[in-house]
Amino acid sequence: MCGIIGVTGADVPLDVLLGGLRLLEYRGYDSAGVALVALPGDDGSTASLWRRRSAVRAQSIAELESSREAAPRARTGIGHTRWATHGAATEANAHPHTDCSGEVAVVHNGIIENHRKLAARLVAAGHLLASETDSEVVAHLVEDELALGAGLAEAARRVAGELQGDFAIAVAYAREPETLAAVRRTSPLIVGRTGTLGVVASDIAAVLGTTRDLYALGDDQVAEVRPGSLSVSDLAGNPVDPRPVRVSWGVRAAQREGYEDFMSKEIHEQPRALTDTLLGRLHPDGATEFEELSLGEEVLGAIDRVLVVGCGSSYHASQVGRLAIERWAKLPATAEIASEFRYEDPVLDGRSLVIAVSQSGETADTYHALREARRRGATTLAVTNVVDSLMAREADGVLYTRAGPEIGVASTKCHVSQLVLLQAFALHLARLRSTLDADEASRLATGLAALPELVARALGKSEQYGAVAARIVEANDVFFLGRNVGYTIAQEGALKLKELAYVRAEAYAAGEMKHGPISLIDRNAVALVVVTRGALLEKLLANVEELRARGATVLALADEGDKETSALADLVLEVPPTEELLSPAVAVVPLQLLAYQIARTRGNDVDRPRNLAKVVTVE
Ligand code: M6R
Repeated sequence: MCGIIGVTGADVPLDVLLGGLRLLEYRGYDSAGVALVALPGDDGSTASLWRRRSAVRAQSIAELESSREAAPRARTGIGHTRWATHGAATEANAHPHTDCSGEVAVVHNGIIENHRKLAARLVAAGHLLASETDSEVVAHLVEDELALGAGLAEAARRVAGELQGDFAIAVAYAREPETLAAVRRTSPLIVGRTGTLGVVASDIAAVLGTTRDLYALGDDQVAEVRPGSLSVSDLAGNPVDPRPVRVSWGVRAAQREGYEDFMSKEIHEQPRALTDTLLGRLHPDGATEFEELSLGEEVLGAIDRVLVVGCGSSYHASQVGRLAIERWAKLPATAEIASEFRYEDPVLDGRSLVIAVSQSGETADTYHALREARRRGATTLAVTNVVDSLMAREADGVLYTRAGPEIGVASTKCHVSQLVLLQAFALHLARLRSTLDADEASRLATGLAALPELVARALGKSEQYGAVAARIVEANDVFFLGRNVGYTIAQEGALKLKELAYVRAEAYAAGEMKHGPISLIDRNAVALVVVTRGALLEKLLANVEELRARGATVLALADEGDKETSALADLVLEVPPTEELLSPAVAVVPLQLLAYQIARTRGNDVDRPRNLAKVVTVE
């Protein structure tokens, strides 16, 4: 979840590091730090490390900026932005960590599972550890290898062989002022170069402004990065060719471009994200085309069951996907919370298709669920926004959402792109299995193709949020209710309100209320009901009556012109009407905007909500 950046060969490496950290901050913002290899002075002083760290949460990078003037002349440095796992969010636990000599600096993303054992060994040998982190051991282990005569890259290789767990690590060393060593296992790490620079980063976005000549390190590969050159080897020291990274978006895509924050930019990019995600994949007659999907008709034709796994908003998209697969392709389909699925001893075989849905393609829970599914013999498919991400590489097949980089911690454009892509894939399965007639397939394809336009219309209705937002803020506790696909929308709406506005929001399948939660309803209760116009409409409206009878305030999300719902609800948020199963991409928009507006009113940081990180690489 942390962000890593490193550069060598730069005239002002601190500029590259701070610029990169700003772009990486969404990965974690509990603290940040940089270390530079200060060049020898004219006074005969030797090269040394200069380090600055700050733990004032979202202000940490700004504080580092203020130390610019004190920065020494250097060509090489590393930087880090942290989401705390081991050890509190303090300056002492902030990266880079150094060894006893103060000549080795290390930044790390991931978890070193055997750190206690390694720390005990280091302490017994006389090392002084200064933090509570799992990461610091790496600096001291490198120190020992250097003392035995290894060069920096060789030391990093030997140390990596001792580490258990997931890690992406970059190391700088005062006595090799123009070298960085980088090594990874599971956690991603990119290396790159220009004619004069070498770079390391956990994310493409951090270095895209510097170079597009980028390579993804593989598991247990070590890179020696020098100005203008890279050499990569495996843990045995054999040279390997790193895999070039293809980047389809430009550096501007990862910038705010005039919006006040990334979240509003990304909410407004949703029509574009959907258009791009569907581009070339859907034909008006219902035919589908997935160029990059390496799962052929023979494999997909043999599938007899689908399990869609994900976390958070990706789980909610998975629920929409599973409904479409079951309804259109007539395949038994379930949606699974990835962190639970892996430990449920799932019964799978080659006829089970497990679809891992993840914006980042890196989420540990989903990644391990995917690996478990493979281990159990299932056919696997990754639906992700990040090209060449861990899941994209692990799965038998991959489908990319084409939403562009999503920086705001709350998922918006990627969530809608995921669910629409899953719906298009459900049509694909339906076609293969001949479960829809031609008219129905064509009608659904036309409905999907219309979604970008409908989302754009939903975005234009921001004037209606004020009164609803005021009622929610007053209540500070909201039920989100819906049935069938409306329940998935309710869950996503509740998640957005919780994570952005810090308002307690509980999503329920509306029919479940009478089985217990209705005892919480009184005149102070507020329920936001997602009214989707399908077979369950009458039953849902009856559930609304039950709430009203007990004094609850009913806020409804309903189709434009839905008089029946308007008559029942205290306040209504209107959305352009769509076919029921296609409604989530449109209906979620007002709920995103509502959460955004309440969060802003409360002075919350919408891009970096408290305690969260964009990419959750721990279980
Ligand atoms: O990168 P992923 O899609 O795998 O991330 C999954 C969740 O962590 C993510 O959707 C999270 O719930 C967001 N903060 C929701 O807005």
